[in-house]
Amino acid sequence: MKPWYSLHAFIIPLIVFGTLAPKAGIAGDAKKGAAIYSQSCVACHGIDGKGSIPGAPDLMAKNGVLKSPDSVLIERITNGYQSKGSPMAMPPKGGNSSLTTQDISDVLAYIRQRFGGTDKR
Ligand code: HEC
Repeated sequence: MKPWYSLHAFIIPLIVFGTLAPKAGIAGDAKKGAAIYSQSCVACHGIDGKGSIPGAPDLMAKNGVLKSPDSVLIERITNGYQSKGSPMAMPPKGGNSSLTTQDISDVLAYIRQRFGGTDKR
């Protein structure tokens, strides 16, 4: 008879990798995201992430919009978003409909790395 743990040795890694793999799969590449930001986002959000049009949020703010989880921000960047009382909406994909899901993950990784919670000024 097989030892009791032979089945567990199979199933436990399966469960562990099954839950981790999808997250790893959509991980963004901040380097690629930088190029996307400068093409599709910078006009409204600015080089410094502080926003260059009325209504654009300050991405540097410590307790600002970037404290939301990736899932929320990816959804808002993809489909557009307007908060209550805001003078202007975030357009879907920043108006660049050719952006892929991977592009959105990349650009989010970039804004987190470059702006998120990094306001030391
Ligand atoms: C035409 C101007 C414009 C462009 C281009 C634009 N944004 Fe925005 N973005 C906004 C505005 C305005 C808001 C604030 C919307 C509100 O709060 O109603 C916003 C909000 C956001 C937010 C915060 C959402 C939240 O949870 O409150 C994120 C993150 C964001 N934009 C990322 C991006 C990224 C990434 C790109 C490029 C792919 C981009 N934006 C392109 C105008 C723009």
